[in-house]
Amino acid sequence: MNIAVLVSGRGSNLQAIIDSIESGYLKARISVVISDIENAYALGRAKKHRIEAVFVDPEKYSSKDLYEKQVLAVLKKHNAELILLAGYMKILGKTLLSAYKNRILNIHPALLPAFPGLHAQKQAFEYGVKVAGCTVHFVDETLDCGAIILQRCVEVKEDDTDETLADRILEQEHKIYPEAVKLFVENRLRIEGRKVKILQS
Ligand code: GRF
Repeated sequence: MNIAVLVSGRGSNLQAIIDSIESGYLKARISVVISDIENAYALGRAKKHRIEAVFVDPEKYSSKDLYEKQVLAVLKKHNAELILLAGYMKILGKTLLSAYKNRILNIHPALLPAFPGLHAQKQAFEYGVKVAGCTVHFVDETLDCGAIILQRCVEVKEDDTDETLADRILEQEHKIYPEAVKLFVENRLRIEGRKVKILQS
């Protein structure tokens, strides 16, 4: 299966997907990495692994629709069958959502539906939760509210700061994202309303 990864920054989750493909855990290939930020570190990670890395400049398009049409053209050119959002900071519009319905996944650094949106780890830490975590979910027109595929808990320690907590959540992100992608690639996910059923292999 050809995967496209959309990024805006650091790209550690992209790296986790690349590593799981290179180790043979995930039987798929990344056909393109697309960024809306020209100097995103993630683009360099892609190039290092000889993966096509494309910057699509949002400034060049007068609307989200026109921007996404250009992204769509890049996705089609690289025969992308599945889109992974990995720290992609733009909210998706109708153009991409309808072209890839139920074929877009996202990783979020909180146990959804708690703490959607930005700085989720800090939100959770400041709220005083005892258990934090991360979620891989399908992307739909809602913000961080699509059907949940996998979640993993992380205990909050007495001496945590929001940063140490975020680091431990990130470690778990790097595990559950490849796991969820593997389930998708093996056609083992069934969306039933809000629920995602996982078929046994
Ligand atoms: C991660 O915490 C992810 O959960 C969130 O954005 C961050 C991206 O980090 N959606 P990276 O670019 O994958 O390192």
